[in-house]
Amino acid sequence: MPHHDSPAPSPRDADWWRQAVVYQVYPRSFADSDGDGIGDIPGVTSRLPYLAGLGVDAVWLSPFYPSQLADGGYDVADYRDVDPRLGTLDDFDEMVGTARRLGLKIMVDIVPNHSSDQHVWFQEALAAPPGSAARERYVFRDGRGEDGELPPTDWPSSFGGPAWTRVPDGQWYLHLYAPQQPDFNWDNPEVREDFHDTLRFWSDRGVAGFRVDVAHGLAKDLRAPLRDLGEQRSYQPDALPADGSHPLWDRDEVHEIYRGWRRVFDAYDPPRFAVAEAWVRPSRRTAYASATGLGQAFNFDFLGARLDAAGLHTLIDTALADARRAGATSTWVLSNHDVVRHVSRYALPEDCTRQDIEAWLLADGREPAPDLSTGVRKARAAALLMLALPGSAYLYQGEELGLPEVADLDRADLRDPMWVRSGGRVKGRDGCRVPLPWTREGTSFGFGPGGSWLPQPADWGRYAADAQSGDKESFLELYREALRLRRALVADEELEWIGPRERTRRGLLHFARAGGWHTVGNLSADPVPLPRGEVLLASGPLTGDELPPWTTAWLRAGSASGR
Ligand code: NOJ
Repeated sequence: MPHHDSPAPSPRDADWWRQAVVYQVYPRSFADSDGDGIGDIPGVTSRLPYLAGLGVDAVWLSPFYPSQLADGGYDVADYRDVDPRLGTLDDFDEMVGTARRLGLKIMVDIVPNHSSDQHVWFQEALAAPPGSAARERYVFRDGRGEDGELPPTDWPSSFGGPAWTRVPDGQWYLHLYAPQQPDFNWDNPEVREDFHDTLRFWSDRGVAGFRVDVAHGLAKDLRAPLRDLGEQRSYQPDALPADGSHPLWDRDEVHEIYRGWRRVFDAYDPPRFAVAEAWVRPSRRTAYASATGLGQAFNFDFLGARLDAAGLHTLIDTALADARRAGATSTWVLSNHDVVRHVSRYALPEDCTRQDIEAWLLADGREPAPDLSTGVRKARAAALLMLALPGSAYLYQGEELGLPEVADLDRADLRDPMWVRSGGRVKGRDGCRVPLPWTREGTSFGFGPGGSWLPQPADWGRYAADAQSGDKESFLELYREALRLRRALVADEELEWIGPRERTRRGLLHFARAGGWHTVGNLSADPVPLPRGEVLLASGPLTGDELPPWTTAWLRAGSASGR
């Protein structure tokens, strides 16, 4: 294994994640080194200097494990290997070594709720009889009805259709996602032990942390008789019971699993870190984020929020208070591989709901017509707000380039299981996963020497990293400068709101961090007076003493208190 020679960590090393900027790589769409049209690990390695130059602290890789890609890699056939199309374990080690030399940390995605149906354990389970130890690693049950021809319960798959699929001997197995993603039985000690081994496997290879997929789903109430969900079938994080009594999601027993993981993490120096993807009531996030649990939990509030100052003020306060209660820090996320890119979200009318956005995708991005220049303006303002908040910022690849959603992908090109499983009612997430443009010209705009597994739009080159580099007005340079300044400015984890709260109703957000770092966001259609101070950075051109509509500025105020 490579990293035996690491120097003894200082105590601060254990806290590196608290205010880190983490860059999410979706490996198949990031950079392709060998021209097969699929991004790969050597591709990531080749672009690490770009990420170091951007100024991020850590890189989180979405799954790169062997997979038949029934769900973009979130169907893992082997948790301790690299998909041969993406490289080898040696390539992985080389990537970690290069990252280390550049001062970057590597995080990997761990998918513990379900494996791929190609996983050796599931293949064994299929070959073994009902009641066998092999079937006990997953959730196999007899069906209902006279001949067991009905699924055991009414549980729905998150991708549409029932969560049960029947196997030839008549039993049914559980999959809360696609049929190719059978759910593990976490009551089984063998499953628990095996995941500990996987966590050690990657930790030993120098991985600093883990993003935990569907962290709220592992513990299920599998006692006989299984309970139907009835009215609880439609899954809404906010509507989950607050007492952990839902049969499938956010049960209290799940934290016992993570206490075991914490013991694995804490055996390393510095301890390994984890962030939970847990779609639960905000008040129950804290349990996932606790120091005896995973350590941090995603706060996805920005993904669904409008750029409305009063609403943001409240959600920021709540997230900071929740994180503080957990002894963690909050995360801030504007985009990821599961949602429409925020430049496009902000280009749609203010009152668009999630359903409207789905409909917009189905209309190939034409109805309602997006106003991209507004989207860009708002996205730049949102970036400076997010990057000024205490906690960690998670960036999704391409957001630093201001990429919009590719909403007009041809139906024949769609790969997301949501598209097929929903019977064409949901277009899915491919539009945010289109391979990145690195160069203005050239094959697949520099993504790689071959094609690109999802078609790139003809004008993709104008967003390319090399087209933006050095252009002060560009998205990329805004991010570079913001991350450079942030690194110098971030001190403690406190935030102080400035001015009366009523101002948020007029669209103004103003807060200060230690050292006199002020952030003022004008989230309204009218200019407002710019507070006094030295302007460090602004998301758009400033006019005299005014902060124009949809603009955020970072200022240094010269007060004695430092705030
Ligand atoms: C959440 C992941 O982010 C998403 O991409 C995936 O489809 C589901 N979990 C299932 O693993």
